[in-house]
Amino acid sequence: MNIGIVGLGYWGPNLVRNFTGNSSVKTVYGCDKNPARLRFIEEKFPNVQLTSEYSDLLKNPSIELIAIAIPVVFHFDVAKQALEAGKHIWVEKPFTASSAEAEELIELAEKKNLQIFVDHTFIYTGAVKKIKETVDKGELGDVIYFDSVRVNLGLFQHDVNVVWDLAPHDLSIMDYVISKKVKAVCANGIANYYNHENIAHLSLYFEENCFAHFHVNWTSPVKIRRMLVGGKKKMLLFDDMENLEKIKIYDSGVELENQEGIYNALVQYRIGDMYSPKVNHTEALSMAVKECIDAIQQKRKPLTSGIEGLKVVKILEASDQSIKNRGKIIEL
Ligand SMILES: NC(=O)c1ccc[n+]([C@@H]2O[C@H](COP(=O)([O-])OP(=O)(O)OC[C@H]3O[C@@H](n4cnc5c(N)ncnc54)[C@H](O)[C@@H]3O)[C@@H](O)[C@H]2O)c1
Repeated sequence: MNIGIVGLGYWGPNLVRNFTGNSSVKTVYGCDKNPARLRFIEEKFPNVQLTSEYSDLLKNPSIELIAIAIPVVFHFDVAKQALEAGKHIWVEKPFTASSAEAEELIELAEKKNLQIFVDHTFIYTGAVKKIKETVDKGELGDVIYFDSVRVNLGLFQHDVNVVWDLAPHDLSIMDYVISKKVKAVCANGIANYYNHENIAHLSLYFEENCFAHFHVNWTSPVKIRRMLVGGKKKMLLFDDMENLEKIKIYDSGVELENQEGIYNALVQYRIGDMYSPKVNHTEALSMAVKECIDAIQQKRKPLTSGIEGLKVVKILEASDQSIKNRGKIIEL
């Protein structure tokens, strides 16, 4: 398969490295309108065919898939042109800048029998796979909350706020791990430096009795990547800054007991053992590339298709609306 990659800035070179490393890929074509980025790729990956004109990728009949790694505001136009030219697409997170754009791309891809892969990279990490397995086999019991913190200093984006930049990672993990349906979003945030929020807190309510919270921040002095998944039986901590014990499962919980004759509910805490399961450390992006190519070859939707991309975009959109209205609850 021949692949075109448009956008060779910060993230694009990782796509180049992983697509060139996949055995099903014959030639990688790269495109960036910035000549300095083309020179950078030329030095590191001399086998990549380079151009500054996107239309060169569209016109090339040997290219089956176009991967899009440009700023979010441009995803839709570039993705639409690729689908119209008959190419499958890989689109970086977040899928699009609005749900209307996502819906239009999904419809167009269906009509043209093409696949959309949305790069929700974290879904392809060994750690998130392990969390999913743990939840699916019922080890945590009924999941009642999901609580995530993703904060660090920088990189401010020009086109989107911190919610659109960082929260897609956690929202996509949540959507993958918890099968419950999100019902409403409430978000608060503040823009201290320019017109895009640099700190935000998102709260999600589910149809069932479950709650999720996300804290994203570009202005934190320390880098924190932590996530708690609370079940009624056990609770799980995912700390992505840990090298060895990324996941810890705690046999801790709370039980309500009614003592006979006394009508007060008594809360009993259970603090049992903790263990850290083994996690596969294969690079997530190489697994994502494999899934994207397999899905195209097997003519099926990938694990992270346009549908999963749209679900995340709907929550991002609702968050913006809520932030503008000082935490108003937005029903989905
Ligand atoms: N999956 C992940 O973990 C992850 C991580 C970082 C960024 N991203 C996503 O990747 C995308 C790109 O982010 P980035 O940080 O690499 O941005 P960037 O600004 O560093 O790079 C974008 C590049 O695209 C080029 N470009 C823009 N429009 C173009 C066009 N029409 N034709 C050709 N070249 C064009 C620019 O010249 C630039 O070199 C964003 O959607 C971002 O959210 C994903």
